[in-house]
Amino acid sequence: MAESIRVLLSEEEVDARIQAIGEQISRDYEGKQVHLICVLKGGSFFMCELAKRISVPVSLDFMSVASYGNDTKSSGLVRIVKDLDESLKDKDVIVVEDIVDSGRTLSYLLEVLRGRGPKSLRLCTLLDKPDRRVVDVKVDYTGFQIPDEYVVGYGLDYAQKYRNLPYIGVVEL
Ligand code: IMP
Ligand code: MG
Repeated sequence: MAESIRVLLSEEEVDARIQAIGEQISRDYEGKQVHLICVLKGGSFFMCELAKRISVPVSLDFMSVASYGNDTKSSGLVRIVKDLDESLKDKDVIVVEDIVDSGRTLSYLLEVLRGRGPKSLRLCTLLDKPDRRVVDVKVDYTGFQIPDEYVVGYGLDYAQKYRNLPYIGVVEL
């Protein structure tokens, strides 16, 4: 496979932005504890880096969803592959995602999670592709808005590769 990767957001840019979001969340949740939910696998790198930069108490949980579609386009049908370990009841929850694209995955997921009785529920995404939105989703914290290009790195994959890149790149086939 001979695709190449063009840098879109450098490691320094991504790290600086995560630092700023961490500080923002720390201010917004002063005196509270935040419960971060990582949407696997893509959200894992971002969540770890973000959690390290939040100064209020943090707890973590993980879930995994799959959309019935091909690799580069979600179908809108989402199933929970791995559910959370803990209840959300009365917690201040932030869902941490890698990217909001069509919005289908998140709109489904947020509806499911809202039904579990969190005290509050917000969405934090490293990347947002607003041009691709099909379903309206309210994003509370956004790292970067990016153009409609397929990106990898910082947790995002292309056929399960490149998640470990410390920057965000565009796949050029
Ligand atoms: P949505 O349901 O269309 O918003 O899709 C969201 C999911 O599609 C993300 O959580 C990613 O797993 C995947 N995805 C969307 N765009 C990209 C991309 O540019 N690179 C890698 N994965 C992507
Ligand atoms: Mg994802």
